[in-house]
Amino acid sequence: MKSKIAYSIVGFLVASVAYGSVEVLIHSYQNAGAGPFSAGEGRAAWIQEYRPSNSVDARSCASCHGTDLSRTGRHLKTGKLIKPMAISVNPTRLSNPKKVEKWFRRNCRWTLGRECTPQEKGDFIRFMTSQ
Ligand code: HEC
Repeated sequence: MKSKIAYSIVGFLVASVAYGSVEVLIHSYQNAGAGPFSAGEGRAAWIQEYRPSNSVDARSCASCHGTDLSRTGRHLKTGKLIKPMAISVNPTRLSNPKKVEKWFRRNCRWTLGRECTPQEKGDFIRFMTSQ
């Protein structure tokens, strides 16, 4: 019983920290002139398939992370499992703005063939936190 309470307190603290960094990210995109953000737009961009000019295969964010963000994903190329992206089941997601920006940069370049705009990133974050 005691440990159950301790676990939920830890869970709450982790979730609060994650929420704080979500707002940090959203504010930085607003400061760049973007917004308002929409989970629906984020979802549409998440499943949209792109074919960057240097590649033959179509790919989307869902190619590795899936469309149900509460479930484990699988890396398209390596087959490695990727932990769920939804904060509701994986509170460590979006908890470190530097890490988020690093992966946005890398994954947007690979998927879209360019970096994502602040608007696109804000929409992705709203989608990820809506799941
Ligand atoms: C080729 C596979 C692949 C594709 C496609 C992909 N990702 Fe990822 N993504 C990863 C991997 C691998 C990680 C890092 C491992 C992990 O965090 O579990 C990651 C991590 C992330 C993170 C870091 C989340 C956090 O706080 O831990 C974000 C945000 C993200 N991806 C967004 C996207 C978006 C947006 C797209 C589409 C534009 C996308 N990813 C497409 C493989 C992919």
